[in-house]
Amino acid sequence: ALSIDEIANVLSKVGLNDVPKQPNTYPELNPFDIYRSHITDLLAQQTGIDKAIIYPTLAWTAKPENGDLQLAVPALRQKSKKPQDFAKEIGDNFPESPLVEKPVVNGTFVGFFFKPEALTKLVLPQILRAGESYGFNNYFGLKDPAKPEDGQKRMIVEFSSPNIAKPFHAGHLRSTIIGGFLANLYEGAGWDVIRMNYLGDWGKQYGVLAVGFDKFGSEKELENNPIGHLYDVYVKISQISRDEEDEVKALTEKIKQQEGQDNSELEAKIKQIQEHGVDQQARDYFKRMVDGEQKALDIWKRFRDLSIEKYKQVYARLNIRYDVYSGESQVKDESMEEAGRIMQEKGVSEDSEGAVIVDLTKYSKKLGKAIVKKKDGTSLYLTRDIGAAFERMDQYHFDKMIYVVASQQDLHLAQLFKIEEAMGRKDVSDKCQHINFGMVKGMSTRKGTAKFLDDILRDVQEVMHDVMKANEKKYAQVEDPEKTADTLGISAVMVQDMKGKRINNYDFDMKRMTSFEGDTGPYLQYAHARLCSIIRNAELAAAKIPTEIPADLSTVDFSALTEPHAVALIKQLASWPDVFINTVKTQEPATILTYLFKMSHAVSSSYDHLVVINNAREGETLIPKEVNITRLALYSAARQVLNNGMRLLGLNPVERM
Ligand code: ARG
Repeated sequence: ALSIDEIANVLSKVGLNDVPKQPNTYPELNPFDIYRSHITDLLAQQTGIDKAIIYPTLAWTAKPENGDLQLAVPALRQKSKKPQDFAKEIGDNFPESPLVEKPVVNGTFVGFFFKPEALTKLVLPQILRAGESYGFNNYFGLKDPAKPEDGQKRMIVEFSSPNIAKPFHAGHLRSTIIGGFLANLYEGAGWDVIRMNYLGDWGKQYGVLAVGFDKFGSEKELENNPIGHLYDVYVKISQISRDEEDEVKALTEKIKQQEGQDNSELEAKIKQIQEHGVDQQARDYFKRMVDGEQKALDIWKRFRDLSIEKYKQVYARLNIRYDVYSGESQVKDESMEEAGRIMQEKGVSEDSEGAVIVDLTKYSKKLGKAIVKKKDGTSLYLTRDIGAAFERMDQYHFDKMIYVVASQQDLHLAQLFKIEEAMGRKDVSDKCQHINFGMVKGMSTRKGTAKFLDDILRDVQEVMHDVMKANEKKYAQVEDPEKTADTLGISAVMVQDMKGKRINNYDFDMKRMTSFEGDTGPYLQYAHARLCSIIRNAELAAAKIPTEIPADLSTVDFSALTEPHAVALIKQLASWPDVFINTVKTQEPATILTYLFKMSHAVSSSYDHLVVINNAREGETLIPKEVNITRLALYSAARQVLNNGMRLLGLNPVERM
């Protein structure tokens, strides 16, 4: 990044002797910090109010006409003066500044506008120098920001967490996308992030699956397509199990009707099913797994391992890799037993008709009663989560743990956290957070309802390919259209998922998400590719003139870059670190996307006004008359910020399309 000395150098040229720096601000990383600190200094001088009160009241604005920073006068808590009068007084008497214009007063608000001269020279070199780290690295994740040597705080982000041999549904898709984003976000903010996948990989259904594989399984198909094949097997065997269940019901009914007659044959049939049917076989099988019988576990482990291998490939397409593939199967019996003991000792749990329950209504009616142990002694989803949380604390000593799970499981997670707390483990529950999200409606592929992530991505790729083909001229220039369509398709799905508030439901709309117009993934990709092509073309043009483009654009003299479009764009670029910080607070990917769309619009409206190459046509030859280096640097900086934002979201920015 830019050093304090370099910042001081820029500021001294406009007549400011020191770099303004309030406590816990990072002028080297965030240009807005310089302006907030500077305005704070002047306001404190003018009003005598404590800087610690002024600084946090300087907020950035949603509307540029309100200023680049805005002071809400009531927030200064000055009882002796009417806010409106005080605002006017501040506006009238604000001292002359080399960094900001005379403030504009609007009711109880005072708006500050940055002067372009220093801004350009501070922001562009900073971005170009920091490169892919611009906007990140905000010290949030450090144990003590004042002492980086103390190290980082640790966070577990648990996300995706599909169930083996079951469909990967929309809830898993959203968890994957949002969780991947949050992991990047916190990593960017300086946390030591552990990405964890908590697979649904344990329970009687894996006995069912093993029995099914015995009947319908194919080694070859298992190797080729483990996830799809296991699902098919599971569907078939479940059908048989249901048929048997229906048959028992029908037989029982018949016996009832024929009371008094000889039903021994029917009874024998029922007995046969109950003792040797799929359900009983599955129970037996699962019991062998629970008892740790190697042969039973080996098959299950193969299913699990092959599924994970396949998942890894699919996740890689979304730029996601996990540090830990955990799962329900990995929770130790001892952890659950220990938790059970503590719950009992502390009077958290109670017996109820042979089962063990926790009555959470005493904390809140909504939490209801939760079963933690069934009559037959088998553990539950909730019990496993309790054990897992304590194990994770023992193993990773996390400072924060995020569960990215659909809002259908709000109750489950609220119960989990409350039980931990009741057990006296606030050290765990206080550090846990449920990040929830709404549903996706109508997620289906061309062939029917979507079952696997693969199918969805393949389908979107096809639609995207068609959209691209519609523009023949452009399509002809794309180097590897299949691959580009794949990348764009994935961006389409991800952006559609992240552009609204997490909690909102949305419609899976293939047509809208794959459009190049509107706030879509393809639009962002297009904006990025266009910036890349401007940079490429400028380099080509420069070589023809010939003109040397400095290798390090951050050293260029930016004095000439004063056009309103340039200044507006620079202000947008300057606010990126603040947008990042704000996103850490909102935990909403939409905060990033809203910004990226706004910034991209500012870029695209600049193209006509800030031309880099003057393409005067002479006959058929393009003759570049001049290459405008400062504008090129501006577009390079914009590309960098867009690229940083897209990568943060988990997108793969394309350079050509
Ligand atoms: N496998 C679960 C499901 O598909 C999601 C797991 C969520 N995480 C957890 N710790 N309970 O519904």
